[in-house]
Formats: sequence, structure tokens, C-alpha cells
Amino acid sequence: MQTIKEYVESNKQRFLDELFELLRFPSVSADPKYKGDVSNTATFVAKKLTEAGADNVEVCQTAGHPIVYGEKFIDASLPTVLVYGHYDVQPADPIELWDTPPFEPTIRDGKIYARGAADDKGQFYMHVKAFEYMIETGTLACNVKFMIEGEEEIGSVNLGTFVRENKERLKADIIVISDTSMISLTQPSIETGLRGLSYIEVEVLGPNRDLHSGVYGGAVANPATVLAKLIASLHDENNHIAIPGFYDDVVELSAAEREALNKAPFDIEAYKQDLGVDEVWGEAGYSTIERTGIRPTLEVNGLWGGYIGEGAKTVLPSKAEAKISMRLVPNQNSQRITELFVKHFEAIAPPYVKVTVRPHHGGEPVVTPTSGIAYKAAEKALEDTFGIAPIPTRGGGSIPIVALFEEVLGLKTVLLGFGLNSDNLHSPNEKYGIENYVKGIETIPLFHKYYAELAKEEK
Ligand code: BES
Ligand code: MN
Ligand code: MN
Repeated sequence: MQTIKEYVESNKQRFLDELFELLRFPSVSADPKYKGDVSNTATFVAKKLTEAGADNVEVCQTAGHPIVYGEKFIDASLPTVLVYGHYDVQPADPIELWDTPPFEPTIRDGKIYARGAADDKGQFYMHVKAFEYMIETGTLACNVKFMIEGEEEIGSVNLGTFVRENKERLKADIIVISDTSMISLTQPSIETGLRGLSYIEVEVLGPNRDLHSGVYGGAVANPATVLAKLIASLHDENNHIAIPGFYDDVVELSAAEREALNKAPFDIEAYKQDLGVDEVWGEAGYSTIERTGIRPTLEVNGLWGGYIGEGAKTVLPSKAEAKISMRLVPNQNSQRITELFVKHFEAIAPPYVKVTVRPHHGGEPVVTPTSGIAYKAAEKALEDTFGIAPIPTRGGGSIPIVALFEEVLGLKTVLLGFGLNSDNLHSPNEKYGIENYVKGIETIPLFHKYYAELAKEEK
């Protein structure tokens, strides 16, 4: 029988060609302009699942973008692995900063450059190819279910309903997601936590129309100045978030836990150099690893108002706006944090402007267990492939649906991610290493094998 390594070796070009085909679909979920492309991507994913050997493949329509489902049931005595991923991607803009077009995948330096290469097309597709191998060679060790959605990047708005309505169909023992990062190819790691999210838009309204800044400036509050001051006041001099009650529910880690976390290899000089910054920044008293893993944050994602076109226009804008996100950690709750933000922002608004706060989607933080057999299986599989045991880390990103899976399906998740933080997720020139792709495909069948073995032992 062909080993997975041999199988990948002899099918590598096809595995790349198929991923390239998937990457050529501009499946941008946020922009209605791409609705047809998103839908075509779902059809393509369904076709590939069927070709790989999945049964009962269905493109499930929702109130938004479709969810692709497929399964292979082999034996009721075996555990069932539910693979979740997303085929939608973030918008590609600013498009002029891409060295090659975002939806024309290109290989440079052993890396695939394309929007969605790492997040998440390149990663979920590894599961489809690993599944193909297990079917081809009759080595499937677990029952498998696939749920690949098209709205992750816009907050999985319709997935909750789908999960609630399909509890029976989604019955499984564990959820596996490849949509996170590892430290490096020489030091694999497993993320054991994801942050929650609270996302808010604010609007500061001044005069009822744009004004001549010479005629009115100095006599009427400028909404852009007011917004800048309000935003600046959200962090104090220690870069703590200055919203009353914000930290009330934050779980502080023990000294031992923090020490373990900070043992992970991390080169601050390389980090700064990669980002082109002279100094890092953040909450006083915490390391960079902690600031991006176990601490909550508040970020301005976009800020605008007034004239931003070519040249100079003298104008006092009627309004200014911003998009603000907060990353949350256990046991913060996105709804409560949103309420605290709204209350605080309204309270600090000066009387010479009108402030409107509009909450968007949110999501809850999670910590995934390191004690169960799924983590152990992932650990063993990664060690086999990489020759070195993975270490647990806490991820800074969010996959809000993970908390929901736990709540609705009662299922734990293992985050078997193969991306790198430097893959430019959501940025221009997103990339995914061919080696990451290949190693991922090689690791997944081992995960299934070890998971089945450990489940049997546990019985
Ligand atoms: N795959 C990412 C999340 C991620 C990235 C986790 C890197 C860990 C490491 C996911 O697609 C994502 O971008 N999620 C969004 C949240 C969503 C509600 C828009 C995020 O984290 O901003
Ligand atoms: Mn993702
Ligand atoms: Mn993403």
C-alpha cells in the first residue's frame, strides 16, 4: 500500500493544480458583488468532495452564502471527525499592493501567493486531499463529516442557525479545524485558544453639512478632531483599555502558566524587522506573546471623515467615523463588552457633537483542551510528520463558531493549523508554503489513525 508520503509525492502537481483552481474563485463574502462567485466556489468544493469519495454531498442554501456538507460513514463503532473550514475569503484590497494578482495564484520562493492561500482554502483543502488518500487506500480510520462554510470572514452569520437545525446530521465526537497558525516548520505548535470579538462602528456627527474650514473652523467642533480624541482616550498611559469594567471578567493566568507560555520560541528582533517597526507596543506588564494571546485588546480598523481625495480641500467635515474591534479572552462575553463600550462611548461624547454607536457581529473566546485524546492524537501526528513534538500556544485570532459548536453540539475542537503568522492573512500578498500544504496533507491521516486508536483504548 502507498504511504501518504508516497501518495502526496506522486500526486503533488495535481494537488497544487486543484488548489490553484480553488484559489482562482474570488469568493469574497463581504462584498455582494461577488455573490455569484461565492456560490460557484461552493459548487466547486462540493464537486471536489464528491470526487474525493464523500457521500451525501450537498450545497446547503442559507439566508446568506451556502454551506457545503459531505460525509463518509464507515462504521458505527468508530469515532466521527467533523472537519470545519471556510471557502470564503477577505476582500483583496488594497489591490495595488499585491505583487501578483490576488486571484491568480503564483508560486514564488516555494510559497503560493493568493487571497485565501492560507486562510482558509489552502488549509481546508488539505483535509479533502488527505480524505481522498484515505478513501483510495481504504485506510479511513474514522467516520468523517465535512462542513465548509462561506461566511466565516463576515462572522458566520447563518452558521448558527444551520448548526441548530442540523444537530443530528452534524453528530460527531470531535471537530477538527485547520484555520490557525503554527510557530514554524521547525517548531510545530497547536493553538489551544482563540480570542473572542466585539466589533463596533462609531459615528461622530457635527454640523448638518460640510463647512468652509476658514469661515466656520474654530467656531464649530470638528467631528474628526473629536473622534480622534475619543479614540485616543480609550487607552491609558499604560496601554490598558480605559473602559470601566472592561477587565472585570478577564481570567488571569498563574505565574507558572505565563512562564510556560513565554517559553515558546519567539525572536523579537526578527518580529520587529519583519513588520518594519523600531519598537513594539502594548499593555504594560505583558510580553508580546501574552499581548497577542491571553490579553484583550482594542483596535481601530478604519477611520475616516472629510476630504481624502487628491490634493487639498479646505473643509470642516460634517461627520467622522471609525470601525473598532475588541479581542476578548476568557471569561469576557462579547455582548457584555459591547454594552460596556456603548455606554462608555456615549458617556464621554461631548455635547457639541452627536455620537452614534452601531454594534456588529461578535464572538466568544475559547480555550481548547490539551488533556483529551484529540489533542494527544494531533500531538502524535505532528510529531511524526515534523520529527519534533508540537507545543501549545494561544492564538490571537478568532473563529467565533468554535464556542458555538461547543454550546450547541457539545463538541470540543482541535485546532490543527498549518499556517504561519507571517502568511499575510487579510493583507496584500497572502501566502501559504507548499511545504505547509504538503506536511498538512501528510499529518491529517495520522491524526485520524491516532484518534481512532486512542478512542478505542478509551472505551
Ligand atoms: N483564520 C482566521 C482566524 C485566525 C487566524 C485564528 C490566525 C488564529 C490565527 C479567521 O478566518 C479570521 O480571520 N477570523 C476573524 C473573525 C471573524 C469574525 C471575521 C478574525 O480573527 O478577525
Ligand atoms: Mn480563517
Ligand atoms: Mn480570516
